[in-house]
Amino acid sequence: NNYVVIMAGGVGTRFWPFSRTNFPKQFHDVLGTGKTLLQQTAERFEGVCPSENIYIVTSQEYKELVQQQLPYLSAHQILLEPTRRNTAPCIAYACYKIAVKNPEANIVVAPADHIILKEQEFKDTIRKALAATAEQNILITLGIKPSRPDTGYGYIQYIPQSTSEIKKVKTFTEKPHLELAKKFIESGEFVWNSGIFIWNAQAIIQNFDQHLHEVAELFEEGKKVFYTDEEESYIKKTYSFCKNISIDYGIMEKSEEVYVLLSDFGWSDLGTWKSLYDVSEKDSSGNVIDGQVMTYNTTNCIIKTPKDRLVVAQGLEGYIVAEFDNVLLICKKDEEQKVKDFVADAKSKG
Ligand code: GDD
Ligand code: MG
Repeated sequence: NNYVVIMAGGVGTRFWPFSRTNFPKQFHDVLGTGKTLLQQTAERFEGVCPSENIYIVTSQEYKELVQQQLPYLSAHQILLEPTRRNTAPCIAYACYKIAVKNPEANIVVAPADHIILKEQEFKDTIRKALAATAEQNILITLGIKPSRPDTGYGYIQYIPQSTSEIKKVKTFTEKPHLELAKKFIESGEFVWNSGIFIWNAQAIIQNFDQHLHEVAELFEEGKKVFYTDEEESYIKKTYSFCKNISIDYGIMEKSEEVYVLLSDFGWSDLGTWKSLYDVSEKDSSGNVIDGQVMTYNTTNCIIKTPKDRLVVAQGLEGYIVAEFDNVLLICKKDEEQKVKDFVADAKSKG
């Protein structure tokens, strides 16, 4: 009864210029392991469910990339969105479709762009959560011990006295502003939302029905045509009517049935250059280098450049130097949140 949904439709703006609209980071071998993030994510679920129970949700434009990278999937396992509507509609599409096949399904929803260092611990955690959702109609998220007041995450406050490992959530706050994030961290009562969710089909459908009713209606109707020739045209016609909202704002902040399983499996969201820097191996000067690079008096930098280009860096401290497909970014590592603005400006310049 176990199914896995991999969300692979984001554009990964903060990872520009490596992550591009036509080739986002989940389709890159970001870590230099010979496998892309999407391939690694799919492999991580080996043993959790058979490969015919893995569903990928992505944009229409990435269809070929997914097919090339996961050739063992059948066409009906690759769900294509005609427009971007963020994660709530993406999750609804997949969960309603799985429910047609198996109303008793237990579903793991996972982003395609995370790193997980401790695979065994990860699998154990997932199995624990799946066992719980087989018994109860609850929404489980995996919680991560926070290390800094990062405003890019969801913050979860749970009820500590509950003796079970899976704890009832008191509040869920998606992407708080910095002051609030600092308070959350200081209180010691909060964990980060890993963005990996576990629930059964019934529980998530009930919650869509309650909190995102219009989205629920569209897919309730869609159930009639899923796995038929009409599915594609139905989705093309209706998907853009879905509210553009993430699952975090749309359901997790609102639902009364949210639980958290505290986890420790070497998790990292490869959201930004600094996050890649943090998890990568450094040379004796604290540099992370991927490319043909000569460094002089250069420290704590991340330099990722095409293999056929010789790069010489002198006197750099704490910089990102990244080149991909005719775009070169040089930016202070501490100011990487500006990358989003650069992308917007570069787009407006054509
Ligand atoms: N198919 C599809 N369609 N996938 C999408 C879409 C979409 O429209 N939008 C985003 N995704 C995918 C991304 O590729 C990523 O794998 C995942 O969904 C999560 O989206 P992000 O845009 O990366 O979300 P986030 O990082 O800002 O926030 C989420 O993850 C954090 C942890 O990494 C939230 O769940 C936070 O609460 C959480 O802390
Ligand atoms: Mg993310």
